[in-house]
Amino acid sequence: MCGTSSLLACGPLDPEPPSDAEGNPLPLPPPGEDWLRVVEVSPSPAIATEATIEVRFSEYLDPDTLNSYATLSLRSGGIVAGGRLTYRMSRKALLYHPRAPLEAELRYTLQTSPALRSVVGSPLAPETPAPIFFTDETLPAAEPPTRESVRWEDIAPILERSCASCHADQAWQLPQLSRDALRQTRSSQVDLPLVMPFEPARSYLMHKILADYPRRRFTVQPPPYSDAPPLAPDEIELIEDWIAGGAR
Ligand code: HEC
Repeated sequence: MCGTSSLLACGPLDPEPPSDAEGNPLPLPPPGEDWLRVVEVSPSPAIATEATIEVRFSEYLDPDTLNSYATLSLRSGGIVAGGRLTYRMSRKALLYHPRAPLEAELRYTLQTSPALRSVVGSPLAPETPAPIFFTDETLPAAEPPTRESVRWEDIAPILERSCASCHADQAWQLPQLSRDALRQTRSSQVDLPLVMPFEPARSYLMHKILADYPRRRFTVQPPPYSDAPPLAPDEIELIEDWIAGGAR
């Protein structure tokens, strides 16, 4: 019996779902998934007026939820400093670089768009603090982030070493990993191209070579059951840069 006199006997109350300042319910991670979290922000808290801020996350990000103007912004009172956004997929990191130099000796707050999601659909954890920065004019200006210019000739020997034993063998009936084949072949496992030039996060090749990528079919490549030498983190980053530079 759940009467007013025996409230405690009615069992535990459901915890209140998290809500924003206006009391609207906040989006939750999908069942079984964790929140998206900020792992590291650098540099912090002092930044140059021309700084590149790197925000590393706990999960890979959903490229559909990245907006180069709104995903990360630096605010100081009513001033919003527009910035350029780069997603370094292999590092699970967003890089923000202001379009115009920031004001000297000001305090800025880094705001993250509530629309940002991980690849499995998790929103940022509600308790995520908004990092605060102070501009320090004496610090050296940082260049806007650039990608290493990577050509196919830099990638080919890596794929030859770690992948060709199976993928170049007709008997396996696997997709060829030549430059043209990578650019022209759609995955037989998911509805994605193997390589979408300029878009590493939408290239299934990246989903297959990042060991902890959550949404791919079957195993990481090269398969752990094989003798093929695994890819080193800097080789994976090189492949990311090659795709980001247009997969030429
Ligand atoms: C031991 C043999 C073997 C090696 C070595 C190997 N693969 Fe594979 N690869 C497979 C098999 C088998 C599949 C299909 C099953 C799977 O996805 O795990 C596959 C699937 C793939 C797919 C998905 C194809 C599709 O249609 O979606 C990609 C992409 C891929 N491999 C890339 C690579 C890359 C890049 C390397 C080297 C870094 C590599 N593979 C090394 C055997 C291999």
